[in-house]
Amino acid sequence: MSRTYSHILVTGGSGFIGSNFIRFALEQRSDMRITNLDALTYAGNPENLSDIESDERYTFVHGNIGDDKLVRELVANVDAVVHFAAESHVDRSILDSKPFLETNVMGTQCLLDACRHVWSENSDGKAPFAAKRFHHVSTDEVYGSLPLDQPEVMFTEDTPYDPRSPYAASKAASDMLVRAYEHTFGMDCTITNCSNNFGPYHFPEKVIPLFVTNLMEGEKVPLYGDGLNVRDWLHVVDHAEAVLTVLENGKTGETYNVGGNNERSNLELTNSILSIMGFGEEKIRYVEDRAGHDRRYAIDATKIKRELGWQPTRSAWPAALEETVQWYRDHEDWWKRVKSGAYREYYAKQYKAG
Ligand SMILES: NC(=O)c1ccc[n+]([C@@H]2O[C@H](COP(=O)([O-])OP(=O)(O)OC[C@H]3O[C@@H](n4cnc5c(N)ncnc54)[C@H](O)[C@@H]3O)[C@@H](O)[C@H]2O)c1
Repeated sequence: MSRTYSHILVTGGSGFIGSNFIRFALEQRSDMRITNLDALTYAGNPENLSDIESDERYTFVHGNIGDDKLVRELVANVDAVVHFAAESHVDRSILDSKPFLETNVMGTQCLLDACRHVWSENSDGKAPFAAKRFHHVSTDEVYGSLPLDQPEVMFTEDTPYDPRSPYAASKAASDMLVRAYEHTFGMDCTITNCSNNFGPYHFPEKVIPLFVTNLMEGEKVPLYGDGLNVRDWLHVVDHAEAVLTVLENGKTGETYNVGGNNERSNLELTNSILSIMGFGEEKIRYVEDRAGHDRRYAIDATKIKRELGWQPTRSAWPAALEETVQWYRDHEDWWKRVKSGAYREYYAKQYKAG
């Protein structure tokens, strides 16, 4: 049975996927209000939502998901939480894992506890979590790494967890906490584990916007190791649609894998970008491999397709990659401000970002 939500709290809505989700949800649901709680870390940029800032259904709150008092105030006014906020970059987790545990694990715990207490205190006591849902956004990286020589093997929802980077370990821990709150307190929770996203407003430390913007600046692209690591690529709006679908139609306590049917090696990805932008392999700079670099991720998304009717309709290459490259060509001001850090100075005045 499909549910409707009048007011949802989105965490991390000023980042890449959260901002695309907010824009998509407001477009699709004319009677939905959204409050976006975001700490504006280096990855959070309110400019990602400048086109909807004046929409009266949208409210921005600058704050941390680990701020117990603030989070309790916010969850009291909503009927669902969609939790994107995270430290999200594997390379940064290798340099320093502490912020990953603070936000991804303890921040998730703070949100879950706020929902558990506030939603049950505000209910009639009989069905404390009726019509309230906590949706947690997670990653396929919790499942570990697949071999290159068995292309038929993919991650399903039953694949045992085997996180191998500090980032993946922190996301695996947060998934487990969500499941534990569902089981122990009877909270209504759902989880999605998705593959690598691409599309507009992607912070240019991640491979696609980094490579496209490097090439636009006349630089080479740094390719890890032998370039044969394989990822599945999912358009961010396909992902936003999957999250909205699970929020409204997913079964309590269930996990859904979300993928784009779009597996490529990093070398294939690089060559596709070079070709779209009119460059050759001389623009590749091979660099030392990432420590513990997982070889292959691949998603079996049969469950969400069969049970909820979701399909990726925007992820197919080359068209989706060409459109994405064009978006960065058309939004040079945006990524130049992000790369130089200038966007932070501007928004620091408006939002007092640290
Ligand atoms: N990008 C991908 O390809 C991908 C793939 C699978 C899963 N995910 C998951 O999707 C979610 C969103 O990823 P993304 O790529 O948009 O990340 P991002 O780094 O672009 O954005 C993260 C956002 O969270 C905010 N944030 C960080 N710490 C916070 C805190 N303590 N309190 C409040 N806000 C905080 C940041 O300011 C930023 O706006 C994450 O949970 C990530 O693990 C991402």
